[in-house]
Amino acid sequence: MLTNRQLFLQHVGQTSDQPLMLEIERAEGIYMYDNRGQQYIDLISGVSVNNIGHRHPAVVEAIEKQLEKYMHLMVYGEMVQSPQVKLAKYLSDLLPASLDAIYFVNSGSEAMEGALKLAKRATGRPHIKSFQHAYHGSTHGALSILGDEEMKRAFRPLLPGVEKLEFNNFQSLETIDATTACVVVEPIQAEAGIIEPQNNFLQALRERCNQMGALLIFDEVQTGMGRTGKFFAFEHYGVVPDIMTLAKGLGGGMPIGAFVASKTIMDTLKTNPMLGHITTFGGHPVSCAASLATVKVIHEEHLAEKAHMKGQRIREKLKHPTIHHIRGKGLFLAIELNDNELLKRFMDEAFKEHLIMDWFLFSDTAFRIAPPLIVDNYQIDEIVKKIHTALDRAQTI
Ligand SMILES: Cc1ncc(COP(=O)(O)O)c(C=O)c1O
Repeated sequence: MLTNRQLFLQHVGQTSDQPLMLEIERAEGIYMYDNRGQQYIDLISGVSVNNIGHRHPAVVEAIEKQLEKYMHLMVYGEMVQSPQVKLAKYLSDLLPASLDAIYFVNSGSEAMEGALKLAKRATGRPHIKSFQHAYHGSTHGALSILGDEEMKRAFRPLLPGVEKLEFNNFQSLETIDATTACVVVEPIQAEAGIIEPQNNFLQALRERCNQMGALLIFDEVQTGMGRTGKFFAFEHYGVVPDIMTLAKGLGGGMPIGAFVASKTIMDTLKTNPMLGHITTFGGHPVSCAASLATVKVIHEEHLAEKAHMKGQRIREKLKHPTIHHIRGKGLFLAIELNDNELLKRFMDEAFKEHLIMDWFLFSDTAFRIAPPLIVDNYQIDEIVKKIHTALDRAQTI
């Protein structure tokens, strides 16, 4: 009989030759447990998803309660579903007044598809700008604005009218003009290796968009939900987008995404054509119930503020001769080693320490630290010790 691992390789669609192949039986808080009972620490939150940890009791309870009432009823937007309504109201109360209409979808990529369509529909303009080393998802539209040619080449032709800007390059903002429907940006670039905007770059971008009548879209799929020390990363910079995308941590482990705009902008999807964006499962009631519980935990337990303090603790404790510098905010950190071979050896050693780690799509000399925001000080000290051990070994091999 074939093992689960063999069946996984045989029948589950693969996207890499080197999957991690860990067989997890259960997960709780910051920990995962494999089929041999071994404990692992999730240092990346399933890539910025499990911000309140795995199987948070409030999320499990909300899912169970919703399951007793109803699951799917009808395609998006026709029926008044209270989990959606409550979530939309709670989120809009957390957001500036100009972001008061929320369209729920299933993922970050789908949120970006909706956001791009909304910008084109609302402005009637054809062109889109995005940034080098940006990642916004894997569907055709999201891939079209991805900032790396190698990941795109095999899938061309993609969307026309897309142009790349350089993050933190003020001159490149001049190409935003009266034909630009929108500029899409991650307020802190995630897969580029956690690159922060410098010298009020986002303010300058906002101003240029205002001048040209282009809509500014912030992709907060990784940076949102308390990860960077604020509920949304844009709060660090005092710049409010016209449209924002959310996903990943929004669902507390359940699939959900959203694009957010003003009611006036969002309402353009109602006419010419009507049904300007539709989805069957977007805003699934069980996902919305889980999401509301998640958002409440982050808000009521001040997890964003705590993420700031915890990030500081990691920065203070994580000192090693191989570390060149640390980038990022809150619990959204890139540890720069400036050495790809060293990084590879470190990743192997970190896995031996039972740390679930990851590097970045577009940076091959740094690794990420983005644990669930509920990680406590004792656990942080344990994590730092394990990273030091792995770095020691990686350095001497
Ligand atoms: C910044 C950002 N935007 C969008 C996405 C796409 O989200 P999803 O994988 O849910 O489609 C990702 C996924 O990693 C992301 O990091």
